[in-house]
Amino acid sequence: MTDIVTITLNPAVDLSTSVDRIQPVAKLRGKSQRRDPGGGGINVARVIRRLGGDAHAIYPVGGAIGGLLRQLLDQEGVVSQTWTIAGETREDFFVDEIATGKQYRFILPGPHLSPSEWQHCLSLVAAIEPFPRLVVASGSLLEGVPLDFYARVARIARQRGAGFVLDTSGPALAAAVAEGVDLIKPNLREMRELSGSDPSDAYEWEAAAKALVAGGKAGTVALTMGHLGAALVTRNEVLRARPIPITPRSAVGAGDSFLAGLIWRLSSGASREDAFRLAVAAGAAALIHPGTELCRIEDVERLAAGVTIEKA
Ligand SMILES: Nc1ncnc2c1ncn2[C@@H]1O[C@H](COP(=O)(O)OP(=O)(O)OP(=O)(O)O)[C@@H](O)[C@H]1O
Ligand SMILES: [Mg+2]
Repeated sequence: MTDIVTITLNPAVDLSTSVDRIQPVAKLRGKSQRRDPGGGGINVARVIRRLGGDAHAIYPVGGAIGGLLRQLLDQEGVVSQTWTIAGETREDFFVDEIATGKQYRFILPGPHLSPSEWQHCLSLVAAIEPFPRLVVASGSLLEGVPLDFYARVARIARQRGAGFVLDTSGPALAAAVAEGVDLIKPNLREMRELSGSDPSDAYEWEAAAKALVAGGKAGTVALTMGHLGAALVTRNEVLRARPIPITPRSAVGAGDSFLAGLIWRLSSGASREDAFRLAVAAGAAALIHPGTELCRIEDVERLAAGVTIEKA
């Protein structure tokens, strides 16, 4: 068994292509086509694997697209633990417009889960033997799934003595934080929703993160601020990372790559500072190549050497 499992309730197969220019009515001839596995926890498991670690991915599988998703993950060497659902696994569609270098991302809603289908996920997690040290849940919930779903996962992880890491948004994040979570990775929008405040500078953002930690709701807040960098806030320490100067060529996977780098390094016993450095590098590395590709290890290592971390 592995030390880390990830949970993705709404996984996807991401289909991507590039066209000269996006126009209505005309037939837009794609110049390439590729399919990648997608969805928060799935990407976290893939990046951990690329970085040299091992994480198992738990996700529902529906129809032919679900079968394809599993096959794509098998090819990458990511171990899947799945259960079958009646609906069809989601597909997303990404188009790179060559003339402008812009990327268009179409995210589809995904299937409905019945009560027995989402309850099955909870039973599956509760029954893992031996239990992993870390459970990572990431991504949106599907229609039909109660907003306290991640709070229930947090409870199972706690009962089994494992850490629980969450990257999601809105009421599902708020409900889990009310239950208590070991680490959350909000971006600025998610942090604004969660704190119910509208911070205006780095100091105020960090104060909002510190308030969550002080209230015992999150052990660590990894606040990611896109091109502005990130802060890692724990009870005794605030670390700040300056952004890495890069030209983004894609918008896919920065948050997932950041989270994977952080938890993989932390779970391997590295210091918070080292893990944070790798996370920031992995986030930036996800963006420097066009398309849906996640970070490459050689980019992560190269960029990590240039990350500056300060203690606040
Ligand atoms: N334009 C950028 N330049 C440099 N680094 C970046 C940029 N965008 C993101 N990063 C790095 O990646 C990390 C995560 O990015 P971001 O805050 O955008 O996460 P997110 O909003 O959760 O992303 P996602 O859309 O993938 O869910 C940032 O903290 C930063 O380290
Ligand atoms: Mg995100």
